Order: sequence, then C-alpha cells, then structure tokens
Amino acid sequence: MFDAWQNNHDGGYGQARAMIAAGEKLFNSAPVHITGVRGLNDNPALNYPPEITGTCTTCHDSFNIGNHSLPLPLDIAPLTR
Ligand code: HEC
Repeated sequence: MFDAWQNNHDGGYGQARAMIAAGEKLFNSAPVHITGVRGLNDNPALNYPPEITGTCTTCHDSFNIGNHSLPLPLDIAPLTR
C-alpha cells in the first residue's frame, strides 16, 4: 500500500512517509514466533501447533484496517498463568 513512499526523502512529509513505508515492510515480513495464544496454539483444527512462525499479518490480515478477518477469538495472554 505504501510502496510509493519508500524512497520519499524530499522534505515536508517525505521523511515521515518513508518511515511509514518501512513500517509496513516490517509489519508484513518480520518473523513473529507465535506461542501460547489461545485460539491458535491450542486449536485442534490446526493440530495444536506449539509454535507458528508468522508475521503481524498472520493475525492482522484485514487489508487497510489491521483487524483479523476470521470470527476466531484470540487470547494473546500466556497459556500458563
Ligand atoms: C497471535 C496473533 C497476533 C499477532 C501475530 C500480532 N497481533 Fe497485534 N493484536 C492481536 C490481538 C488479538 C489484539 C487485540 C488485543 C486486545 O484488544 O486485547 C492485537 C492488538 C494490536 C494492536 C492494538 C490495536 C488497537 O486497535 O488497539 C496493535 C497496534 C497491534 N496489535 C500491532 C501488532 C504488530 C505491530 C504486530 C507484529 C509485530 C502484531 N500486532 C502481531 C493479535 C496479534
């Protein structure tokens, strides 16, 4: 979505836009090791994966909003309390 802002360093809002584009890249591609999330790691439909290697978009997959697209409750607090 923000690819066009990647190399935008020409003053004004340019620097901020380049940082937004860099953040989008991280959001879409930085590896996230997902463990202890109820709804995912304890999900029989997923065969109880102890760890899922994903990105922010594994959960935040609604385009342009960031919410998740499935009616799947997620509890990101640790499984053991
Ligand atoms: C395992 C699933 C999962 C992953 C992966 C994940 N999130 Fe989330 N995120 C959630 C859930 C669930 C909430 C809602 C928590 C709540 O409201 O109690 C949330 C909430 C947020 C919020 C607050 C949104 C709001 O409107 O208050 C932000 C910002 C956020 N996540 C950013 C990120 C970023 C950045 C990454 C990647 C580094 C990431 N998330 C990865 C599940 C995830």
